[in-house]
Amino acid sequence: MSGPDITGELADQIAKDGPISVAAYMKAIAESYYSSGHVFGKDGDFVTAPEVSQIFGELIGLWCVTAWQALGQPRHINIVECGPGRGTLMADAMRAIGEVIPAFLNTASIHLVEQSPALRSQQRTLLRAYDVEWHDDLSTLPYGQLIIIGNEFLDALPVHQYERTAAGWCERLVSYSSCEFSFTTAPFPANVIDDTFDDAPVGSIIEHSGAVEDTVKEMAQLCIDRHGVALMIDYGHTQSDIGETLQAMKDHSYHPVLKDPGTADITAHVDFALVAQTARSEGASVLGPIEQGVWLRRIGASVREAQLCADKTPETVVTIKESVGRLIDAEGMGTLFKVIALAPREIGSLAGFEVER
Ligand SMILES: C[S@@+](CC[C@H](N)C(=O)[O-])C[C@H]1O[C@@H](n2cnc3c(N)ncnc32)[C@H](O)[C@@H]1O
Repeated sequence: MSGPDITGELADQIAKDGPISVAAYMKAIAESYYSSGHVFGKDGDFVTAPEVSQIFGELIGLWCVTAWQALGQPRHINIVECGPGRGTLMADAMRAIGEVIPAFLNTASIHLVEQSPALRSQQRTLLRAYDVEWHDDLSTLPYGQLIIIGNEFLDALPVHQYERTAAGWCERLVSYSSCEFSFTTAPFPANVIDDTFDDAPVGSIIEHSGAVEDTVKEMAQLCIDRHGVALMIDYGHTQSDIGETLQAMKDHSYHPVLKDPGTADITAHVDFALVAQTARSEGASVLGPIEQGVWLRRIGASVREAQLCADKTPETVVTIKESVGRLIDAEGMGTLFKVIALAPREIGSLAGFEVER
């Protein structure tokens, strides 16, 4: 279901039960939007890092091998990707591993956490050379040690928004009338925002994602119980703060979040302070968050870029360098995107997260 169908369904729900939370609106739209499958790349609505340059998935693949070493080189490891999109990251990762350490492929099983049947079908095509199992969520993963990865997965999970009013922080809701969605505010304060932000001016918006919190809790527990690690890459901020980051992208441009729901990608910046605090409170060790550009350089982006440029025409070299620059430079994705890892406490560090002295 997409476009007018999701509009009708949400309008009916609001007419029956009253305005819905921003999180409920975002969840319904994300499910509808990703069910179409035609979302990535030049002909879609947005471009993600694995679609910008093959080095992104390749370096993450080789990072998984270093994580496996840090975990004590178990005889078998589950490589789990959350929200794999077209499957490009995993395909590049597996190809790089196969070229550098082919024996590792015999120890690894691939698991993809993906709800969209259309995207599962694209992933099946791209990863046809490998045995892959799909899951709706993390609860059905087979027992065993694991490495969880996810690029732009957490930003797709629903956020609640709260507006500062004279009475306190009231949940922001989505209403529908005269064929249009609009924001409204719950009449009573919700006691979910801590007093750090009590001085925020009336009209301020703050976001909180219970879905991110629950997902990170589950990942942290898996890392501890099964002696595994998780690596999440996303755009977001390192300090929880007031501000509205909910956004929609259509045809590579910003799109009003309440217009034509289901036809644009809807996301929110990830609150990495919440991710880190949630994982720590579950007993996990947290590495990062650090900027994507710094992390990619530390794990070998320049070396891989030089290899790719060798023997290429000057025009191809320019294209390769532009793509890698987009991943690393501050003007591209280098500083807005952050990388964070969760691990059991006994893991001191992981590649790319070394503390600078
Ligand atoms: C922005 S895309 C990122 C795709 C890919 N990782 C990349 O970098 O190209 C978000 C992905 O998360 C998936 N997704 C969103 N919400 C999900 C959920 N609750 N459970 C599982 N997958 C979800 C989408 O279907 C899609 O594959």
